[in-house]
Amino acid sequence: MKIVVCGLGYVGVTVAACMLRKGATVVGVDVNSQKVEIANAGRSPVKEAGIHEIFARARAESRLTAATTLGSALADADVVVACVGTPSCGDGSLELSYVSSVAEEIGMAVRHRSSQCRPLLCLFRSTMLPGTMDAVVVPKLSEAAGEPPGHRYEPVYNPEFMRESTAIADYFNPPKIVVGERFPGAAQELYGIYDGIDAPVFKVPFAVAEMVKYVDNYFHALKVSFANEIARLALAAAVNPQDVTRIFLSDTKLNVSSYYLRPGNAFGGSCLPKDVRALGAFGRKHGVNVPLLHSVIASNTAHKSFVARLVLARAPKGSRILQLGLTFKPDTDDLRESPLVELAATLLEEGYDLSLFEPDLKPEQLIGANLAFVRANLARLPGLLVTDFGRAAAKADLIVLGKAMPGIKLPTGKQVLNLYRL
Ligand SMILES: NC(=O)c1ccc[n+]([C@@H]2O[C@H](COP(=O)([O-])OP(=O)(O)OC[C@H]3O[C@@H](n4cnc5c(N)ncnc54)[C@H](O)[C@@H]3O)[C@@H](O)[C@H]2O)c1
Repeated sequence: MKIVVCGLGYVGVTVAACMLRKGATVVGVDVNSQKVEIANAGRSPVKEAGIHEIFARARAESRLTAATTLGSALADADVVVACVGTPSCGDGSLELSYVSSVAEEIGMAVRHRSSQCRPLLCLFRSTMLPGTMDAVVVPKLSEAAGEPPGHRYEPVYNPEFMRESTAIADYFNPPKIVVGERFPGAAQELYGIYDGIDAPVFKVPFAVAEMVKYVDNYFHALKVSFANEIARLALAAAVNPQDVTRIFLSDTKLNVSSYYLRPGNAFGGSCLPKDVRALGAFGRKHGVNVPLLHSVIASNTAHKSFVARLVLARAPKGSRILQLGLTFKPDTDDLRESPLVELAATLLEEGYDLSLFEPDLKPEQLIGANLAFVRANLARLPGLLVTDFGRAAAKADLIVLGKAMPGIKLPTGKQVLNLYRL
């Protein structure tokens, strides 16, 4: 197998070393002649455990060469891997000129491949925003190759999840392999590059693969910032942050788990909003700067507006909406700070003919804080509640599913908007 790696930075050098370790012949291409010289001397242009040895051995076996241009390297290659940089522009947006240039260079080189060769697998591993493959890479490749993908070449987006310092180990033991393809089955031929690696493989549209990489990195950054802000608050309360963290991390049911991590409606109920506000107020009182934690309520408010706009966009004003669910989560009659109560109030304000179906609620049993919340936020509740789901659904122009209701069978042919699974 012959593999050409464009970009001999941290990612490209790791890919090259791992492919060499699997026995492939590798051509490394980088516009930086110093990196090329270093690779041609059998050394790694970046510091990464284990790579020097792999490069030295491959060089001695004549399986590694490097050059500053593609030349004729792609004429008989099986795979080209683009690992060029995508740095930040001054305004934080993504600098795509390297990706664009390398796509053009690969496209031009594809012209010199014999039409008898199997399609050149063009793997793009640089981190790129959703839409970049479709809007930049594929058009550049096609224009330069003088033909669309499919016959002589096949573009694939294959984000890299390695961490510097443990890059080789990460490459052979990744948490997942994500393959973005033009259409289902387009990337069928990965030419065995992932053979022997035990990890789940996700074949998805380009934009999903592009987004996944950002979501991972954003979440990692968010986790670091969250842990540090909590530590600053803990220190202000004379609490040892390590003690708190140890207990927090021990909870793999609710904390370090997929729980609370699925997109749906805003959070609400009697605890989360109140407790988030209280710890924020504690931070302000003690002069602790915790911008991430302070942004949580604002984010939740923004999500409630987003959800309301989703409903408004689906139903013309005055139409009949049946909202399923009012309490803040299934199997409770707690209405306090429920986003579904707020949604119902907004829909009434907007002039919809609203009915509410909520089997978890017995209005005659509402007492205490629950009753006070309804009186203050949805005084018309008793007149809106319906008990005959089938009849109400038949009359509705739009059914809004606010929370999971496993026992309810939705009628076919009705417009349904699911808010708990966006
Ligand atoms: N470094 C990481 O840990 C890591 C992990 C995952 C993903 N990524 C992503 O992978 C991409 C590469 O990251 P990196 O850290 O290896 O970058 P890097 O800056 O270390 O290396 C990029 C290399 O590409 C070369 N280059 C630029 N244009 C070229 C061209 N037309 N032809 C050949 N070579 C060219 C540059 O000279 C440079 O050596 C980025 O998009 C990055 O976000 C990086």
